[in-house]
Amino acid sequence: MKFISIKDAMKKGEGEVSIRGWVYRERGSAKLKFIILRDVTGTIQCVIEKAIVGEEKFQIADKLQIEASMTITGTIKKDERAPTGYEISVKDFELIGESIAFPINKDQSVEFLADNRHLWLRSQKMIAMMKIRSTVFGAIDEYFKGEGFYEYHSPIFQAVQCEGGSSLFSVDYFGKKDVFLAQTWQLYAEPAIFALEKIYTISPSFRAEKSKTSRHLTEYWHAEMEVAWATFDDIIDYGEALLKHVVGKVLEKNQEELKILERDVEKLKPTVEKKFPRITYDEALKLLKEKCSMEIEWGKDLRTIEEDELSKLFDTPIAVTNYPKCVKAFYMKEAPGESPYGEVVHGVDFIAPQGYGEIIGGSERESDLEEIKRKLEADGEDVSQYEFYLDTRKYGSVPHGGFGFGVERVISWICGLDNIKDAIPFPRTMLRYKP
Ligand code: 4AD
Ligand code: MG
Repeated sequence: MKFISIKDAMKKGEGEVSIRGWVYRERGSAKLKFIILRDVTGTIQCVIEKAIVGEEKFQIADKLQIEASMTITGTIKKDERAPTGYEISVKDFELIGESIAFPINKDQSVEFLADNRHLWLRSQKMIAMMKIRSTVFGAIDEYFKGEGFYEYHSPIFQAVQCEGGSSLFSVDYFGKKDVFLAQTWQLYAEPAIFALEKIYTISPSFRAEKSKTSRHLTEYWHAEMEVAWATFDDIIDYGEALLKHVVGKVLEKNQEELKILERDVEKLKPTVEKKFPRITYDEALKLLKEKCSMEIEWGKDLRTIEEDELSKLFDTPIAVTNYPKCVKAFYMKEAPGESPYGEVVHGVDFIAPQGYGEIIGGSERESDLEEIKRKLEADGEDVSQYEFYLDTRKYGSVPHGGFGFGVERVISWICGLDNIKDAIPFPRTMLRYKP
């Protein structure tokens, strides 16, 4: 017996087929049992008749419950009344793994579904998200490989901070306490551009952020890139092209899944078709004041509410550049004279449309060794821990830059999810680390 997928069985449309999967719905009477069988490609109605399979088998069929696994052989035909337009009249079947009282049925609380995440993965919405997630990871790889980047890997155990000490997770490393989980690959990526020039990775990053928002995970997947000889504009160009490629691939491959998630695809198309606006932080403040009646003091970082208001003014992601030096990280390149209001840096945040927040953060890197040391000291850091990093500015330094792309933030936006937790199979947040 050769098993084919439910999708291929429907494509065949007639004759005998053998399929296998899980019971998605079931109902029955004394003589008939209706099963909707699910596999990764779709669902199909199957009818088991006592008169065909016999008394003994029918008793087994009668007891089939949701999520039991089984194989079915039967005759497929078009049937307008069946939920997916086809029906299989079952000749024979095997129960492979029984399922007694699957805990998830209708209308369960968010907490219950989180506790049973391992089972909730089988839901249509999670399946759709996970398929899109797979497209996104593939598209990131494809984009960077296509641009001549090398895939490169950085350590997860690190002895330095890069994105602020307050969001570091400490690890008990054989009793040593100055070991943390990676917030970013950056300090271990910059040394490698002198060897490989253009590099990228997709790797987990960890942030001990105490924020219980709909866009923060403590463990998230981070697609990062770093490029030698790059200008600030080059970095922004790469960010825009990557987002266009990723969204384009999802639109090409995942129309069915976007429909299951009830995503309005019209809202995604401009990202592929239109050039992204690039505005400076100063211009962002001006827009917020004039169009959103929000007065932000120069030198304050843009918060979620400001990003959300800004995002409503555009139908593509926007690149906000030239942030005040005081709100950005120590490694960002100073851009003297580029703002009349104060000192700014060549940092960029891409803000997604529809209030999905910052999806990419990047910068041109500071080249001045003394400036980097001064900033680390001002942040209260022990500069000696950064010697390996500072060497990047001593031996043949070149202009360079890079960015980090928050994979779940992007998936959340593409899928139109209410919460970033649903963009990853097993979310980790301040309150949730099980199952
Ligand atoms: O802006 P961030 O902190 O930048 C960096 O880590 C740089 N070192 C990257 C680089 O230049 N190589 O983080 C980058 C992106 C953010 O724009 C956001 O999309 C995502 O990572 N991100 C998070 N996603 C989910 N949960 C969190 N707690 C996140 N924190 C950041
Ligand atoms: Mg950022």
